[in-house]
Amino acid sequence: MVYKAVFLDIRHKEMKERENFGSKMAVILAMAGSAVGLGNIWRFPYIAGENGGAAFIIVYALASFFLALPIFFAESIIGRRSRANTFGAMKTLAPGTHWKWLGLITVLTPLLILSYYSVVGGWSIEYLFKALAFDFTGAPPDKISGFFGSFISKAWEPIIMHTVFVGATTVIVLMGVKNGIERFSKITMPALFVLIVAIAVYGCTLPGAGKGVAYLLKPDFSKLSGSAVASAIGQAFFSLSLGVGTILVYASYMRKEENIFSAGAYTTIADFLFAIIAGFAIMPAVFAAGIEPGAGPGLVFETLPFIFNQMGASVPWLSATVAILFFLTILVAALTSSISLMEVGVSYLIENTKLGRKMATVLTGVFVWVLGIICSLSFGPMSGLLIGGENFFGALDKLCSNWLMPFGGLLFTIFVGWKMRKADVADEFTNGGTCNRGIFKVVYFLIRYVAPVGIIVVFITAILGL
Ligand code: TRP
Repeated sequence: MVYKAVFLDIRHKEMKERENFGSKMAVILAMAGSAVGLGNIWRFPYIAGENGGAAFIIVYALASFFLALPIFFAESIIGRRSRANTFGAMKTLAPGTHWKWLGLITVLTPLLILSYYSVVGGWSIEYLFKALAFDFTGAPPDKISGFFGSFISKAWEPIIMHTVFVGATTVIVLMGVKNGIERFSKITMPALFVLIVAIAVYGCTLPGAGKGVAYLLKPDFSKLSGSAVASAIGQAFFSLSLGVGTILVYASYMRKEENIFSAGAYTTIADFLFAIIAGFAIMPAVFAAGIEPGAGPGLVFETLPFIFNQMGASVPWLSATVAILFFLTILVAALTSSISLMEVGVSYLIENTKLGRKMATVLTGVFVWVLGIICSLSFGPMSGLLIGGENFFGALDKLCSNWLMPFGGLLFTIFVGWKMRKADVADEFTNGGTCNRGIFKVVYFLIRYVAPVGIIVVFITAILGL
């Protein structure tokens, strides 16, 4: 009876003509667009740097493929089966239960993430402007290293850049799934890949780069603490956009004949490769510049300008061009991710209230903008406000990355592994038995046991502070 109702509801939704991604390639590029972002270029290098390099990367790889990918599948199965936003999905697949709360939390978390994500997006816009003005070329090194600290601690400039970033995100999301999200991702993703590879190749040829390459390739397991493992898993979740419904919502725009397994596998491979290549673009430069790999969130912004400056001494135009391309890469990668974060809130508002896409997007944008202002100010005028020893920005990132995302991921896997009927899960994953039948058993096992247990272990480690 219940299932019949669910089925009718799904049919009804299809008849309402929900927007869809246009092709298999579009799905993969949009999902990879969501995954590849500041997480790869800005967050991955400094988190890897804080946790010892190569050994961390091995754990990160295992976490990506054995913990994160199953959650990716779980979210995709929920999203495409229900063809709804996170809240609607829970109401459709588990009507009248408390699961709707998971749907609601996962509407909110992406907006929290987006508010601080946009601040970093804003930093990359500022740096792009600096590169365009040839600011890194030929400036004295001490001035360059002071750039970052003095910029983020200002009141107005970072807020203005944050505003531009939220504005750009809002405009793309306003244009809708096909014309906005799909088109933007399709154009920019291939370009991004070419750019980051080019920068990595260049980075590895710098004098003194060898140490950076060794740092990425020679594991030192003695540096691998419990918290490093937890950070590796947190990074895998963050990088693959998991646990907060972004993949769920994108999968809800996936047509029934699209293949969930290949979308997940391609996205994970692309995201992992991109992080590693970004590592090679940045770590050699870090060592060449004599900067500490554990320097924290400023790592990319403090290191690269230094390199561009050194290059500038010999060939100014080349240095400026590489600098411009680099910050453009960061910005575009950030935008293809920020739109996925915003779309979660927007799809909820469109489908669960009377608002149209326009109002829904603007409202979401304003919410994110206001919260982001506090994040931005927490590096400057509001830096005295500490929560658990972190500024507002850091506390929000910790809350989301270390708690809300794994928690969401845990509940999504429990939902698919234990709450949904196995037959329904199999039906969705195999497109009614027409594909992926061999791999289903393994995937189901990962979703049902490995991922939840893995996340619970991480929680326990974090709570006990191991
Ligand atoms: N994965 C993106 C990045 O690496 C950011 C992102 C998009 C995200 N959607 C998310 C992070 C959902 C956490 C949760 O930059």
